[in-house]
Amino acid sequence: MTSAAQPTGRHGTVRVLVAQAGVHGSTRSIAERIATRLREHGCETDALDVEAVSEPAGYDGYVVGSAIHNMAWLPPARRFVRTNADVLAHRKVWLFSVGMPAALRGPWKALVGKEEGHVIGDLIAEIDPLGHRLFSGVIGPEHLSRAGRAKFRAMGLRYGDYRDWGAVDHWAREIAARLHEPGLV
Ligand SMILES: Cc1cc2nc3c(=O)[nH]c(=O)nc-3n(C[C@H](O)[C@H](O)[C@H](O)COP(=O)(O)O)c2cc1C
Repeated sequence: MTSAAQPTGRHGTVRVLVAQAGVHGSTRSIAERIATRLREHGCETDALDVEAVSEPAGYDGYVVGSAIHNMAWLPPARRFVRTNADVLAHRKVWLFSVGMPAALRGPWKALVGKEEGHVIGDLIAEIDPLGHRLFSGVIGPEHLSRAGRAKFRAMGLRYGDYRDWGAVDHWAREIAARLHEPGLV
C-alpha cells in the first residue's frame, strides 16, 4: 500500500480520468455523467474513450468502464486495464460495466449475480479496485443481429432505456468523497 499526505494533482487538485469503451452511446453517457458529478465536487476530470488516453499515468483517480457484450468487457477496455495495470494497482480505481441487468426477467435475473465475476473477475483480481458497479444501459432491436433479436425475444426481455441516473449520481458522489480523502489508496 502506498500513501500520499495530499492529493498529487497540479495546484493541489485531484485529477481524475473517466475512461470508457462502448458501441451505442450508453457507456459514454454514463461516463460523462460521472465526470460531471466529479467536476461539481472539485475534481479536475477528463472523460475520454479508452483509446484516446495519451497520459494514462497522469491522474490521482481512475473510473474505467465498458459496455458488456456477450458476457465480456469490450477488448479496448480490457486492453486499457491490462496495459496500465502497474499504474492502476497503485491508484484509486473504480470500474463500471454497462449491460442490461434491469431488462432481465424471471429466472434470467439470476444471471445478474454471476455477471460481475464472469465479466471482469480477472481484472478485479489484478488491480484490486475500490469498487465495481454494474449499470443498465439502453438496448434496442437496432443494436442486435437477427440471431441476437431472436435470443432476446426467447428470453422474454424488453427493449428500453434502463439507465438509472440516480444510481449513477449516487456512486459518483461516493467516489468524489473517497478521492478527497487524503492518503489511503
Ligand atoms: C451484441 C450485444 C451483446 C450484448 N451482450 C450483453 C451481455 O452479455 N450482458 C449484458 O448485461 N448486456 C449485454 N448487452 C447489452 C449492452 O451491454 C447494453 O445495451 C449497453 O447499454 C451497451 O452499451 P453501449 O450503448 O455503450 O454500447 C449486449 C448488447 C449487444 C449489442
